[in-house]
Amino acid sequence: MYDGDIASVLISEQQINDKITELAKQIDEDYQHLRGGDLVLVGVLKGAVMVMTDLARALPQPAQLEFMAVSSYGSSTSSSGVVRILKDLDRDIAGKHVLIVEDIIDSGLTLSWLLKNLASRDPASLEVCTLLRKPDAVQVEVPLRYVGFDIPNEFVVGYGLDFAERYRDLPYIGSLDPKVYTSGA
Ligand code: PRP
Ligand code: MN
Ligand code: MG
Repeated sequence: MYDGDIASVLISEQQINDKITELAKQIDEDYQHLRGGDLVLVGVLKGAVMVMTDLARALPQPAQLEFMAVSSYGSSTSSSGVVRILKDLDRDIAGKHVLIVEDIIDSGLTLSWLLKNLASRDPASLEVCTLLRKPDAVQVEVPLRYVGFDIPNEFVVGYGLDFAERYRDLPYIGSLDPKVYTSGA
């Protein structure tokens, strides 16, 4: 699949599985005694789909699955920080314990906007779980409660992460061969 496009495997399927199990255990412990009903997981489409479904299944306690889709205005290659809601939550999160689930935090701009937006809806608590974090993310003040892996500043794809909508379906995370995005194809 995608022959020759992946320069190297950065995080294997097994490593992802182990990490998701570990994150789920931590989350379960932290949310053991919550009042406000089930934990509400908010996955950010489309990248977070794989993390969301695997995390929800690994979590030993009930969680409700909600999704949002957002898109940043401006340049398509870097986040501008101005975000538009393409699909909002279907439900009110007031009084709920909300955990945002992301695949990757790069500039942190998408998330910082999302945090402000969701915080204004008065959840009982609001935290973030991301599988991957890139070095630039530290420049933005977004509290990341659960982080799977810190990764180098490479173009990574797979397990939900895309380049031009491709590679999301890879079961592992790999770095994309530069020839793919420099060929102009
Ligand atoms: C990607 C990724 C994060 C965001 C991180 O989503 O899934 O949501 O960018 O970037 P940032 O920290 O610089 O804001 P993208 O906008 O590509 O949409 P997608 O999830 O549908 O691929
Ligand atoms: Mn995304
Ligand atoms: Mg994308």
